[in-house]
Amino acid sequence: SAADKGTYPFYMLKEVDEQPVVMRKLVQEYLDDEGIPKIDPKLLAQMKAADRLYIVGAGTSYHAGLIGARLFERLTGISTQVFISSEFAYEQPIMAAKPFFIFLTQSGETADSREVLVNVKKQGWPSLTITNVPKSTLSREASFTLLLHAGPEISVASTKAYTAQVAFQAILAKALGMAMNKENAANFDIKQQLGLVAIGMQAIVDSKDELESIASRYLSQPRNAFYIGRGIDWSVALESALKLKEISYVQAEGFASGELKHGTIALIEDKTPVIGIITQDRTANLTRSNLQEVVSRGASVLTIASKHLSQPDDTIVLPDVDPLLSPLLSVVPAQLLAYYTSLGKGLDVDKPRNLAKSVTVQ
Ligand code: G6P
Repeated sequence: SAADKGTYPFYMLKEVDEQPVVMRKLVQEYLDDEGIPKIDPKLLAQMKAADRLYIVGAGTSYHAGLIGARLFERLTGISTQVFISSEFAYEQPIMAAKPFFIFLTQSGETADSREVLVNVKKQGWPSLTITNVPKSTLSREASFTLLLHAGPEISVASTKAYTAQVAFQAILAKALGMAMNKENAANFDIKQQLGLVAIGMQAIVDSKDELESIASRYLSQPRNAFYIGRGIDWSVALESALKLKEISYVQAEGFASGELKHGTIALIEDKTPVIGIITQDRTANLTRSNLQEVVSRGASVLTIASKHLSQPDDTIVLPDVDPLLSPLLSVVPAQLLAYYTSLGKGLDVDKPRNLAKSVTVQ
């Protein structure tokens, strides 16, 4: 069955490996032969009527929402905000006149996210749940539901659900932007791009040996580690650090690279690993100069860079895709670095201490 580990030592590695297939599955489920999204027009009409989109999620789903907000703003022009569900539930901001809510939840059962949905319904606002689990609580309770089709995700550390959430939001943003006659959306060749992403992901998962040796060389000993980036790369830095901390217990944090000098740089010691994510033309040089600043304080610097921005000594070079979709590739080496760090320490990769796959208490 899909939930069988087969020859894999841990579900996480299987689920990382499945990501190219999940990308192709999303293309098959949600795009027609011309690459035009097949999304319920009633849903698009309600989203179009909104003056602001609110994306709500917890953990990895929140991180996927950070990428989604950029996709929606770029492809539809609708202002989009992202919230951690446990924060929104108790500190509702001043709302737009016509909000539309998007709930991101792999399991469809997270209590904090459900608390927000219950309040959203009370206030009469429309909602969409994007989930991996059909018939789950949040899928039943929202006005609309769409499935991620990633297949069962067993490992506590979420991997293929994150990339499915990001890719699906790109499809939905394109659909909405097209319904609004936005040029950016019409020009975004999502079918071709997701095809390139699948090929790129495959190349990364095929370089496991290299990632295993990088993990053992740089991440097996230190107490802490930092991922840094700007803009969309910062969002991926947050998810990359979460992966590392939750399964390897290295105290890992993601930072906006421009903020380092305002505090975090005080934590840099000899051989502290700092991993820079570099996929965006506008910020590549800025992040590289932030990396120089930590090198001179003794950090062990690693880089994950898109090919067209790469330099000869980059650690990991990612195939080029549309920069809006770069998170789908830059996160994969981070998932594997976390996996191999945990594995190397002899930890239970799939069942890290103190964590649950879905959290049904607030
Ligand atoms: C738990 C899991 C995380 C997940 C989060 C949100 O904390 O350990 O991996 O990201 O819940 O779960 P959801 O099912 O709502 O996406």
